[in-house]
Amino acid sequence: MILAHPDFEKSIANKYIKNKLAQESNVEIRHLNELYPNHKIDVQTEQEALKKADIIIFQYPLFWYSVPSILKEWIDSVFTYGFAFGKGNYQLKGKKIIVSFTTGSSSKDYPEDVVEKIVFPFKGLANFCKMNYLTTIYSHEIANYSDEAKEKSVKNVEIHAKKLIDEIR
Ligand SMILES: Cc1cc2nc3c(=O)[nH]c(=O)nc-3n(C[C@H](O)[C@H](O)[C@H](O)COP(=O)(O)O)c2cc1C
Repeated sequence: MILAHPDFEKSIANKYIKNKLAQESNVEIRHLNELYPNHKIDVQTEQEALKKADIIIFQYPLFWYSVPSILKEWIDSVFTYGFAFGKGNYQLKGKKIIVSFTTGSSSKDYPEDVVEKIVFPFKGLANFCKMNYLTTIYSHEIANYSDEAKEKSVKNVEIHAKKLIDEIR
């Protein structure tokens, strides 16, 4: 699991998902903001980690309809020519991708066509690198501004985590 969250201490949803996934066997969690607080990605280490994985989960809170900046930086640094594509070298070929994100806004802001736009870059990446885009899993209305909001968030993210675990099992 490639996890990006720059304010993890305050996280409800991504923290919940991380903790649940950590209980699964054979899951390696790579929390980019903890590994690389200065955004200096160790490309070789990341590429080796990817080579060992069967399924790569991108886990993140939606930031302006996109990914937190460290995740974009990680993708740009790690999916290099000669490793992920090109020169007959598709070293991630056949690996599966799951995109798993959380949102602050409610589900009405995320009809299917909007979700498709959000994951379009990941589907493009999968296609380009001969990987298999497995599925998209998401939960909405994640907020921590009140006890009621937190309670609702946990309910939403419980379902999310369960779907994710069912998928990887
Ligand atoms: C910089 C920034 C941008 C955000 N952009 C969006 C957005 O485009 N759509 C949305 O629904 N929520 C947006 N949010 C809310 C987060 O997605 C939400 O707080 C997060 O998914 C909650 O997960 P967490 O409990 O793990 O922090 C944004 C939050 C931040 C800090």
